[in-house]
Amino acid sequence: MSENNTRQQFNSKLGFILAAVGSAVGLGNIWRFPYVLYENGGGSFLIPYFVAIFTAAIPLLILEYTLGNKFRGSAPLAFARNNPKFEWVGWIPTFIGGMIVLYYSSIVSWAINYLFLSLNLGWGDSPEVFFFDGFLNMSDGAFHLGSINLNILLGLAVIWGGTYIVCSRSIDKGIERLNKILLPILCVTVLFVLFRSVSLEGAKEGLNVLFTPDFAVLKEPRIWLAAYSQVFYSLSVSMGIMITYSSYLPKDSDLVNTAFITGLANSAFELTVSIAIFAVLGYMAGQNGVPVTEVVASGVGLAFIAFPQAFNLMGPLGSMLGVAFFATLVFAGFTSFVSITEAFITPFTDKFKFERAKAYKFVCLGGFLISSIYATGAGLYILDIVDYFINSFGIITVGILEAIVVTYVFGLKKFRDLANSNSIQKVGSLWMFSIAFIVPVLLSFNLVLFTISTIRDGYGGNTAASMAFYGGGTLVAIVVFSIIMSMLSWKNKEDLDFDVSEVN
Ligand code: ALA
Repeated sequence: MSENNTRQQFNSKLGFILAAVGSAVGLGNIWRFPYVLYENGGGSFLIPYFVAIFTAAIPLLILEYTLGNKFRGSAPLAFARNNPKFEWVGWIPTFIGGMIVLYYSSIVSWAINYLFLSLNLGWGDSPEVFFFDGFLNMSDGAFHLGSINLNILLGLAVIWGGTYIVCSRSIDKGIERLNKILLPILCVTVLFVLFRSVSLEGAKEGLNVLFTPDFAVLKEPRIWLAAYSQVFYSLSVSMGIMITYSSYLPKDSDLVNTAFITGLANSAFELTVSIAIFAVLGYMAGQNGVPVTEVVASGVGLAFIAFPQAFNLMGPLGSMLGVAFFATLVFAGFTSFVSITEAFITPFTDKFKFERAKAYKFVCLGGFLISSIYATGAGLYILDIVDYFINSFGIITVGILEAIVVTYVFGLKKFRDLANSNSIQKVGSLWMFSIAFIVPVLLSFNLVLFTISTIRDGYGGNTAASMAFYGGGTLVAIVVFSIIMSMLSWKNKEDLDFDVSEVN
């Protein structure tokens, strides 16, 4: 029996949708989206945000589902089955995911720690000082590692160990079951946070700030790039995840419909979280008698500084809301984390036929050791730089590459027909226009402008050396590893002899 016929599968379509939504809904929705939204014009950011979803993220999601589902493989296998010369294009998102999991685990570890701290508001009277000095124990720069924070290290051990326990089993008994359990819990915790937050005094002021548009910012290219990178990150596009997950989906699945369900569920979740977050900020501003803009912390601070400050003002309710909020962050983060790890491991099991449980043991142990760099005093500096480079350059470039290769090498009409083959709603010329033109041309143009501005202005006060070493070094490593992997031989060369017409 060929590998194509023995590939493991999700037990049900619902199981797949839950896993895809579980992958999409993660730190990107709770930790990242609210501050990206705020920093990029508040309510008016929703315009580029929805434009980005419909012109690029969902079209690319349909493309990735088609690649994985019809070519029955992780990203490198799916690309190689189309044309072996382009296998490397599939390794790039694989290694992008490999770099993301390393820092992603550390943020989930912070959230686990903060979940416990919430029980007695253990961050004390000054959450900001606590976060940077007491908790992260930050050193004075990205090249000074300082000491290891044992609590963060312990959180990392829980995450990598938990991932090994869950994911080393088969897809249906591991990832599918995990998502079937955690997603309903996540919905309950997020709804609790939402209803409690919007009923706080002053919540309305926060929502006014969130939804008051500043249309002037729409002229700036960086806003548009921020929207595209946010929606790619948030929808788990360009990380190989959706290609891998859909390869475990029965061959006759409705891909178009599933992509819209995933995309809309993800947006509903992140808009809900943003409303809750800004409601809490409105409350906090009211209690302190200052404008909301003064209590909004940008970047990481929004979840780990501004929120604890707000919980401090609420007494016992603060503890309860804190537990619910950080539990939401942990559950959402964990289901995404396992999806990125799965998308990193499957290419190796596809290509080299490593046994799944052994591959997980090796990667989880190695991942734990390498990610411990993020538990040092320099962790936050490095995380900030790597996150910036991966999101602004890495995943956008992968989206562009995927679109170019599918359009101009593999044949876009063939992909459109494959996407439509079992779908009730069909994609047509608009989808083709997005993949053939909007993604490659407009995003490339935007990326060039953005690269120029990063070279000219730097980013976040980081030194040029630290940007080049951690950010540039990460991107170079991704490309070099991808090329090396694509040059190695497949254990079963016949896996590449694949006729897609036999699938449908
Ligand atoms: N899509 C995942 C997130 O939003 C990676 O965190």
